Amino acid sequence: MRQPSLTQTASFQALETHAIDAEDWQMRGLFAADAERFPKLTVDAAGLFLDYSKNRLDGRTLELLVDLARERGVEERRDAMFAGEKINTTEGRAVLHTALRSPRTTELVVDGQDVIADVHKVLDRVRAFSDAVRAGTWLGYSGKPITDIVNIGIGGSDLGPKMVCLALRQYSHPRLAMHFVSNVDGHDIDAALAKVNPETTLFIVASKTFTTAETMMNAQTARAWYLQHGPESELARHFVAASTNLDAIKAFGIDPANMFPFWDWVGGRYSVWSAIGLPIALAVGFGYFSDLLNGAHAMDQHFKEAPLDKNMPALLGLIGFWNRQFLDCESVSIAPYHQDLNRFPAYLQQLEMESNGKRVTRDGHPVDTETCPVIWGDCGTNGQHAYFQLLHQGTEVTPIDFIAALRPAHEYENHHAALLANCFAQSEAFMKGKTLDEVRADLQQQGLSPAEVERLAPHKTFPGNRPSNTILMEYLNPYTLGALIALYEHKTFVQGVIWDVNSFDQWGVELGKVLAKNIEAELTGEAKPERHDSSTNGLIAMAKAAT
Ligand code: F6P
Repeated sequence: MRQPSLTQTASFQALETHAIDAEDWQMRGLFAADAERFPKLTVDAAGLFLDYSKNRLDGRTLELLVDLARERGVEERRDAMFAGEKINTTEGRAVLHTALRSPRTTELVVDGQDVIADVHKVLDRVRAFSDAVRAGTWLGYSGKPITDIVNIGIGGSDLGPKMVCLALRQYSHPRLAMHFVSNVDGHDIDAALAKVNPETTLFIVASKTFTTAETMMNAQTARAWYLQHGPESELARHFVAASTNLDAIKAFGIDPANMFPFWDWVGGRYSVWSAIGLPIALAVGFGYFSDLLNGAHAMDQHFKEAPLDKNMPALLGLIGFWNRQFLDCESVSIAPYHQDLNRFPAYLQQLEMESNGKRVTRDGHPVDTETCPVIWGDCGTNGQHAYFQLLHQGTEVTPIDFIAALRPAHEYENHHAALLANCFAQSEAFMKGKTLDEVRADLQQQGLSPAEVERLAPHKTFPGNRPSNTILMEYLNPYTLGALIALYEHKTFVQGVIWDVNSFDQWGVELGKVLAKNIEAELTGEAKPERHDSSTNGLIAMAKAAT
């Protein structure tokens, strides 16, 4: 039966009415009225702590949001996902990234196949291979150990491993340098190849489909570069693949023994836990890679078992929905106060925007609300000196997720105190703001003339009442990082269920791919220019004239 549209549900309508009351709420007042607001609006799970008290909501808002989650079937759809049902209906696939981090002792039969057993067979191979490369027993063509690993992949086959390798840099093998090539722009591979030695470089061609144009072009360039130096007979020592497409890797010339497989039920943006995580196992070792999986599994268990009103991913998703729908927030800024998480915002961009950047429901009808906000951000404190001005005083309200570790992995304690002070001060400032009267009082105290006070006061006033979440962990380590990624995966899932979109397909990237193929043929002279619009024709003509 067709699911009622979101705005027709009773719980959405109750939220709409409630949101009218909430329009005038000031968070300052909400904090002043309830000394227990912090303990009430915080939750612990899987080594993470979420403070969601600095949002423009109260206990009733949360009750209504939980009602909405129930009415939209979040629990049923979550259980269907974990059980391996084919919830990716436009591609007819199960969605089982959670199975990738399930312990060996568990079992999950999908289409007659125990997927957990399959997962662990591949993990065993990842362990053996990464152990050999790290120990220096996997040798290049001239008999030397590997020193450089170049991952060639894009989207989910790049963002996850790259983000995690950077985040866990403290755990990295001292001999192995990691490089990531994703862009079809030749400057990307050119820069990577300039840094490495063919005798001691291992290329991982990472592509679920093994058809992605950028990855195939980069892989061919890397292969040709290798063949300028090393013998074809030893290519297998230098090229391995993470893919679901055995025929294509064979056609490329990679030894099937060096293929680390995964399955169509692993979405690209959910694939960091699969063979796509091979660079992580190589960089930090299989033990820490397992800790990453264990942290994610702990978050899975929490998501499966905790009641919705104590469920960290559900709360993060529901509050995000509240801000998007009823506070009209068009974007969310991710602010890791941890330099090693500097690729985390980019990772979340694909996770959330490719998953929920949709405009029709699962049964093909237009969604009758806005869907995924724009996700963007950068590390604190850098962002403070770039775009935080707009976040504090711009006309848009942009919710912020602050993410920090309570303890650093370095010995410069003064730096860490300064970092955390900034993180907490920012969330306080976004919440409290500074009223016109407070600004006036400050300026008067500084001895400014009444005219000067009035001239400057509007510029120095902060509206405040701007929402944020703060996510804390003791240390950023493989376990807490795994939990953090899984937290956002499930947050994304919850929002997708509320909007009733298919969070697991990505048809929106197809059109550009097809048009690019046509234009590429025109640029390289293989095909006659097609009749495009005058802008596109003009740009093509300019590029042709420049060659
Ligand atoms: O074009 C989008 C996309 O399909 C992503 O969803 C995916 O992560 C990326 O391309 C790479 O795909 P593949 O791993 O098949 O090369």
